[in-house]
Amino acid sequence: MGLNRKDLLGIRDLSVEEIGLILETAEPMKDIIRRQIKKVPTLRGKAVINLFYEPSTRTRTSFELAGKYMSADTINISTSASSVVKGETLKDTGKTLEVMGADVVVIRHSASGAPHILAKHLTASVINAGDGFHEHPTQALLDMFTIKEQKGRIEGLKVAIVGDIMFSRVARSNIWGLTKMGAEVRVIAPATLLPPEIEKLGVKAFTSIEEGLCEADVVMVLRIQMERQQNGLFPTIREYSRLYGVTAERLKLAHPDSLVMHPGPMNRGIEIAPDVADGLQAVINEQVTNGVAVRMALLYLLTGGGNPHDTVN
Ligand code: CP
Repeated sequence: MGLNRKDLLGIRDLSVEEIGLILETAEPMKDIIRRQIKKVPTLRGKAVINLFYEPSTRTRTSFELAGKYMSADTINISTSASSVVKGETLKDTGKTLEVMGADVVVIRHSASGAPHILAKHLTASVINAGDGFHEHPTQALLDMFTIKEQKGRIEGLKVAIVGDIMFSRVARSNIWGLTKMGAEVRVIAPATLLPPEIEKLGVKAFTSIEEGLCEADVVMVLRIQMERQQNGLFPTIREYSRLYGVTAERLKLAHPDSLVMHPGPMNRGIEIAPDVADGLQAVINEQVTNGVAVRMALLYLLTGGGNPHDTVN
């Protein structure tokens, strides 16, 4: 059974069953990437194009590897070296890629909604790899996969998301996903970085990190996005770090077996102390590995995959 949809644009419009299917399909995919020879023929003859209008290390590379491990032809387009700089529209760029044979276009764009526009104009599948402040659905899926892998469940866990909630597409996608899957989600930030009415999304908002971390099963630390900050939302980086940085001392407030997660790239010593990032509770590297497995699952399911257990042998 594949996903009964052409595109993956956000977590908000995914059902619990669809999220469950993606997480379940990622399990056999993870077996493939643990093998000595990481190659199966599943997507032979398919073309996957990464169209990134913003920088990326993890997402772009993991989509490229995910396609390659399943024998797809994968191409990366760096927009700074493409005809985008000559003024080509998103629609024309997408159409050009499609008529060259793209089956899947993975897009990251600074404008919220850009993947949705592209999806409307293409018959190829479109995957949102992060759009503005809106969503980063594949990050939330890999985060949920990691939580389920480490804790055995998502339902009933207390997940504290700490940091730049206002500007974070990772936070938004995780809020949609984790609440759908039955977690108790808390968001922790200075009032200026908490969107008004955030609690209407079914989360509990805290301005005190000490209160928000209390007994948490998962501590998800967000990057302070220097490139998206408008002036004055907090006094200084040093002040932010002092009041909201996740330190070993603060982590003691969470459950002793809590997971520490970060989507990357990290600002060490700002939102997360180096000893926490490298500590025994951190699963940050596991998140990155799981990103490949989850993206393999998505490519597979969106291109009409059958039973994943049949494809990995
Ligand atoms: N987490 C994440 O999206 O990382 P990249 O920007 O490196 O892709």
